[in-house]
Amino acid sequence: MSELKVLFVTSEIAPLIKTGGLADVSGALPAALRDIGVDVRVIVPGYPQIMAQMESWDELADFQDLPGFPPCRLLGAFREGGVPLMAIDCPALYQRDGGPYLDESGHDWPDNPLRFGLLSRIAAILGCSGTPLSWHPDVVHGNDWQAGLTGAYLSVAQGAAPYIFTIHNLAFQGNFEPEYVARLHLPEHCYSIDGLEFYGRMSFLKAGIYYARRITTVSPNYAREIQTDELGFGMQGLLQVRTEDVTGILNGIDTDEWNPASDRYLPFRFSTRNMTGKAKNKRALQELLGLQADEGIPLLAAVSRMTFQKGLDLLIEIAPRLLEVPVQIVMLGTGERQIQEQALSLAARYPGKFAAIIGFDEGLSHHIEAAADMFVMPSRFEPCGLNQFYSQRYGTPPIVHSTGGLADSVVDCTLQTLKDGTASGFVFSGMTADNLHASVIRAVGLYRKPVQWKRLRKLCMIKDFSWETSARAYLGVYLEALGLESGGD
Ligand code: ADP
Ligand code: GLC
Repeated sequence: MSELKVLFVTSEIAPLIKTGGLADVSGALPAALRDIGVDVRVIVPGYPQIMAQMESWDELADFQDLPGFPPCRLLGAFREGGVPLMAIDCPALYQRDGGPYLDESGHDWPDNPLRFGLLSRIAAILGCSGTPLSWHPDVVHGNDWQAGLTGAYLSVAQGAAPYIFTIHNLAFQGNFEPEYVARLHLPEHCYSIDGLEFYGRMSFLKAGIYYARRITTVSPNYAREIQTDELGFGMQGLLQVRTEDVTGILNGIDTDEWNPASDRYLPFRFSTRNMTGKAKNKRALQELLGLQADEGIPLLAAVSRMTFQKGLDLLIEIAPRLLEVPVQIVMLGTGERQIQEQALSLAARYPGKFAAIIGFDEGLSHHIEAAADMFVMPSRFEPCGLNQFYSQRYGTPPIVHSTGGLADSVVDCTLQTLKDGTASGFVFSGMTADNLHASVIRAVGLYRKPVQWKRLRKLCMIKDFSWETSARAYLGVYLEALGLESGGD
């Protein structure tokens, strides 16, 4: 068979535009698919951050009168070492300051249904027989709610390629008033329980799930959890019906971008063979953030969206107790005002011990991963999570709540797992402040035993988190959706 062609639909892509892990995945998975022989192209909205960063664009198609949408063009660019990128140039919807989903004051863009309806609409046009391009995908792969309507549009198109949908986070659903069904020129019959209706609203996410031939999510454990009442966010019934079509594929990481031996953001580089750079990064970070420059005090870090999902409230609650141990804590993040304010007030109360940086800073996030001794992720739920991979690779054992992809990717450190070489961090069950506290104390206890700590760090650093295995699993899903055998490996 000739090369399989895949259209990858996403609302963010690193390093061009990033608010979270979806960008990291969209930046790395298509390249990993290309490396195993898949012809992938990525389509994204033409936000200013994307339009400005590419050197030159070719016009691929012009959509002057797409019912329901302002005029737009499809542009294409080749990126050195990257996969071909297509952007929807629609100034009326995308040319503005602010982020992909929120305006500068943190409110959802009121026209988000149109912004991401257009992404889905154009993706569907490229995936059916009327496509204006000579390149015709065999499979259309949508990611998260922003690409969810693609399947609905494809369901009424001629010669549609099969649609695969990946859930990166079931908590973000893109639910809007039903009037958008007509405004987005979707057929009326789509607004049904057997379609995209969800508790009296139209749901982009439900459309993604309902109309997909195969559904994937970003860890095997989360694939099970989303079929339960506890973590199904109302979609569990539908996911249970589709259970045969649901597959969990653990995310990988971009091992070039996240490599302590070559990371351009680090003041000092290091590897398992020479770890002195790690200690120097710690000292440099302590100085940068005004923390007491003491190598012997364990430095705990969190880099995260500051939302209920991430459970940072637990870390904030136990911080005063932990600082007594002593430990130092650094938090980098942005999100809900209350969490930001609590972090800032701890920093004010405990100068030299607790640092809070409110904002999104890619370079600093790398430096923190490299400088810290332990990385804390007390997520209430976590579809996959990426920082536990990054921190392992940077010799910073993660302390995680046993949920979602965290449970799939961190092996609790015990005498046994340290001995058999599987240990990679500290895992606690039961989402309470005391349980988090106990696991930090366990980690600090091991930190005080240099031989064992060095062994744990090394075990973390030599783990393989590259994308190849997962890319092969996606290829298997594509082939199955096409009714072809996946061919094993
Ligand atoms: P999610 O996508 O739910 O936010 P992930 O762990 O999958 O969680 O991915 C988060 C990504 O965003 C990671 O690459 C993380 O380092 C990055 N990140 C989160 N907050 C910040 C921040 N304030 N500054 C820099 N990077 C951040
Ligand atoms: C989502 C999830 C996160 C996951 C990421 C990439 O943002 O919250 O757990 O790692 O998507 O798949």
